[in-house]
Amino acid sequence: MCGIVGYTGRRQAAPILLEGLSKLEYRGYDSSGMAVLSGGNITMYKSGGRLSELKRITDNGSRPAGTIGIGHTRWATHGAPNDVNSHPHISKSGKFAVVHNGIIENYLDLKLFLTEKGFSFVSETDTEVIAHLTEYYYNGDMVETLRKVVNKLNGSYALGVLSCYSPETFYAARKDSPLVVGLGERENFIASDMPAVLSSTRRFLLMDDGEIAAVSPDSVLIYNANREPVEKTPFIAEWDISAAEKNGFPHFMLKEIFEQPHALDATVRTRITDGGIILDNIALTDEQIARIDRICIVACGSAYHAGVLGKYFIEKLSRIPVETDVASEFRYRSPIVTDRTLAVIISQSGETADTLAALRQARKLGARILSVVNVVGSSVARESDDVLYTRAGPEIAVATTKGYTTQVAALMLIGLKLAQALDRIDEKDYKRICNDLIGLPEAVNKVLENNIQQLQFIASKYYSADDAYFIGRGADYALALEGALKLKEISYIHAESYAAGELKHGTISLIEKGSLVVAIACDDRLFGKTLSNIKEVKSRGATVIALCSDSSDALRAECDHVIELPQCGAETYPVAAVTALQLFAYYIASARGCDIDKPRNLAKSVTVE
Ligand code: G6P
Repeated sequence: MCGIVGYTGRRQAAPILLEGLSKLEYRGYDSSGMAVLSGGNITMYKSGGRLSELKRITDNGSRPAGTIGIGHTRWATHGAPNDVNSHPHISKSGKFAVVHNGIIENYLDLKLFLTEKGFSFVSETDTEVIAHLTEYYYNGDMVETLRKVVNKLNGSYALGVLSCYSPETFYAARKDSPLVVGLGERENFIASDMPAVLSSTRRFLLMDDGEIAAVSPDSVLIYNANREPVEKTPFIAEWDISAAEKNGFPHFMLKEIFEQPHALDATVRTRITDGGIILDNIALTDEQIARIDRICIVACGSAYHAGVLGKYFIEKLSRIPVETDVASEFRYRSPIVTDRTLAVIISQSGETADTLAALRQARKLGARILSVVNVVGSSVARESDDVLYTRAGPEIAVATTKGYTTQVAALMLIGLKLAQALDRIDEKDYKRICNDLIGLPEAVNKVLENNIQQLQFIASKYYSADDAYFIGRGADYALALEGALKLKEISYIHAESYAAGELKHGTISLIEKGSLVVAIACDDRLFGKTLSNIKEVKSRGATVIALCSDSSDALRAECDHVIELPQCGAETYPVAAVTALQLFAYYIASARGCDIDKPRNLAKSVTVE
C-alpha cells in the first residue's frame, strides 16, 4: 500500500527518492510522484502507472533539481490511479506539498470547511485536504501548524510535508500508518519501511502514533502530540541491502522461496535448547500459561492461513481451545475474550490495519497479546505484551512465502512451549517434534532439490487452466487454503480451497471433464479418506495433481500426477508441503507471463481497513 520517502541533505533528492520508491514498489501501487524544493519553489512530477513512468518524465531523477524532497507510490483508494490523483498534493498557493499513506475518514467534512474558506480541489483524493489545511493553519511555525492539522484529521495517516518556507527541513507525522526516520551523515530520511533507505543508512528512529518530526540535514526533532520534545534511541536494522536485492533470481518471490531454509533455521534453531524452548521477548510465566483457558489467533491473508495451521498444532499439543479468525471479522463478531485469553496476533509486516485494530480490541477486552511478527519495531510488535519475531529478513514479493513458513514454524514453537509448560507432552514426542523442527530447513531444501523439475513440468502442462480446486483434510486443508491463495494472487487463475469432505456438499457440481484439482494428501492418518474424495472428483473427469508424503499404488492409480514430498515430521510436514505449492503457483504464473512480484490490485502491507 502507499509508500513514502523523504530526503534532506547535500545530495540531489530526486534520484534518492526514485531509488527509495523503487524499494517500496513491493508494497503495491498504481501511480507515483515526487516534489522537490529549491530556491523557495516546489516542483512536482506525478504519473499514473508504474514507477518507470516517473523515472522517464524526470529523466531518471536528473530533474527536478534540489536537495530536499518527498516521494510517493500510491495505491488508489479515493479516486482513480491517474496523474491528478497521484501524490504529492499541493496547497492552493503552491507553498506546501503533502504525501500521505492512510485514509482520512472525515475528508468530506474538511473539504466543505475548506471550500467555504475559498479553497478549491483538483483531485478526488482524501489527501488534498491536508495540503490546504496546512496552508490554512500556517502561522510561521510548521510543527505547530501540523499539530493543528492532524488534530482535525480522523482516520490513519503517515505524512511527509514540504514547506517552501523551510528550505532545508521537511516534516512528518504518523497515526496508525507506518513511518520511520532514517539517520544519515549530514542527511536524513523518512520512509514507510526501512528497505527504502537501507542503501544509505541502517540507523532509524521509530515514530510513534501522534508524533510530529522536523527533519533537517543535521538534526531530527520529534515532538509528541502536546508539542513536547521526545528523545528516542536509534534502532539499528540488522537487515542489509543485499537482502532487498534479487541477487540473480528472476523474481523476489523465487528468491524468497529459496531463502526459506535459512529463514527457518534462523527462526527455530536457537530457540530449541537443551533446557527447553526459549522464546526470547516472551515473558509469559508457567503460572500465567496455566491460567490461559482460550487462545484466539487473529491475522489476515496468508498469516491467517498460518493461524489455521497453528490451531491444529497448538490444540493437539497443548489441549487449550484455539479459535482462528480473520482480523476484519474478529472485530465485529463480539468475540469471547477475557483476562484468561491469550490473543496470538500474526503479521509479517506488523502494520496490517485490521490486524492492529483486532489486537487493540483484544487488549481492551483483557487478553494478553502475544504477536508473531517479522518486522522488528513495527506497530503490532510495539503494542504487544510478548513478541516472537520470525527471522525471515525483508520480504519484498507481495505474495508471502518465507514470511508464511516462518510464521508456521513460530506457531509450532509456541505450541511446544505451551504443551511443555502445562506438562501435556511426553518427553519422546517433545524430542521428536524438536528434531523435526530443527530438520525443517533440510526438508525444504529437499523439496527445492528433488521436486522442482516435476513442478515446472506440471506447471507447463496446466498453466492455461481457468479454475483450480485445492482440497485436503486437517492440516492439509489449511495447506489447501494457502495453495489456492498463492495460485490466484499471482497467476489470476480462479482457485478455491475446500475441506476435502465438504466438496460434495455443493462445489462438486462444478467438477467436470478436465477440471484441475490439487489434492493434498500428506496427513497419513487421513490418507484413506482423502483418497475417497480424490476418487469422487476423478470419476467426474477431473485432472488430479496429488501432493503426498508417501505415494502408494492406490494414489498413483487415481491421479494424473503425484508429487511425493521428502519424509518429514507428522506435525511439521506442512512447511515442506507448502514449499511445493508455492513453486507450483510460481511456475504457473511465470508460464502465464504475470507480474509475479507485484500482482495487480494487491498490496504487501495493507494499512487501510
Ligand atoms: C496482504 C499480503 C499478504 C499477507 C497479508 C497479511 O494481503 O498481500 O501476503 O498475508 O497482507 O499481511 P501481514 O503483513 O499482516 O502478515
